[in-house]
Amino acid sequence: MSNQGKVYVITGGSSGLGKAMAVELVKRGANVVINGRREQALADAAMFIDPTGKHVHIVAGDVAEPQVARRLVDEALAQFGRIDTLINNAGIFIAKPFTEYTEEEFTTYIGTNVAGFFHLTQHAIAQMLKQGVGHIVSITTSLTDSPTEQVPSALANLTKGGLNSATKALAIEYAKRGIRVNAVSPGVIKTPMHAIETHEFLSKLHPMGRMGEEQEVVEAVLYLDSAQFVTGEILHVDGGQSAGF
Ligand SMILES: NC(=O)c1ccc[n+]([C@@H]2O[C@H](COP(=O)([O-])OP(=O)(O)OC[C@H]3O[C@@H](n4cnc5c(N)ncnc54)[C@H](OP(=O)(O)O)[C@@H]3O)[C@@H](O)[C@H]2O)c1
Repeated sequence: MSNQGKVYVITGGSSGLGKAMAVELVKRGANVVINGRREQALADAAMFIDPTGKHVHIVAGDVAEPQVARRLVDEALAQFGRIDTLINNAGIFIAKPFTEYTEEEFTTYIGTNVAGFFHLTQHAIAQMLKQGVGHIVSITTSLTDSPTEQVPSALANLTKGGLNSATKALAIEYAKRGIRVNAVSPGVIKTPMHAIETHEFLSKLHPMGRMGEEQEVVEAVLYLDSAQFVTGEILHVDGGQSAGF
């Protein structure tokens, strides 16, 4: 299925995976609405994604806030008239021993990874029900299937594991109403999330012995978006992590 003229809402579109998805989608003729908290970074990303400004619209704000989710959907509709696909990509990752997480870190984790998913997906599905068609893709992590003692990160499992499970629940709930719901579960990908000096260590966390590239996650999202008989799928793009070690 072509991406030409389709409308994508991408949270966390100012950096890393979200920005790479937006670049590829606009290259294929789509329109994107991108979000992030830092307004200047978002504006710079928009300029990079589409210097003409015709196919990209920005909505700055924290996805944890319900009104930001509302604005994302309202402005996508005002600008482009519909929402074909929501990509729940914004997320944070803090690895540390469980007993050392602070209240603030817990609140930020839940806000970004869970509340962000909840509010925006709720508004997007309401719109997709009116359209009779739509697709939700969330970016989770293979740590939910294969935790490792080398990277203690229980809050990533708590939040992204919830998204994997909710993906299946929503896929079933909306299967007969034209809305597909999927997730991409990456291993460790070379994005600004990881300092270059950590890459050698992070490579060794994959059976394939390397980190993933942004484009490899982009291709998984494109596949799910085009795969009309696929819903409730958690597509691992993780160099074998979820298969075992
Ligand atoms: N890279 C990896 O190895 C990896 C592995 C597994 C899963 N993932 C997941 O993939 C997604 C993208 O990661 P990435 O590596 O591309 O990270 P990144 O380069 O750090 O980008 C994160 C993006 O999310 C935005 N963001 C963060 N918190 C936000 C909030 N509360 N509200 C709105 N926007 C927010 C950031 O913009 P602002 O800072 O301006 O808000 C930025 O645009 C995340 O969900 C991450 O958990 C990544």
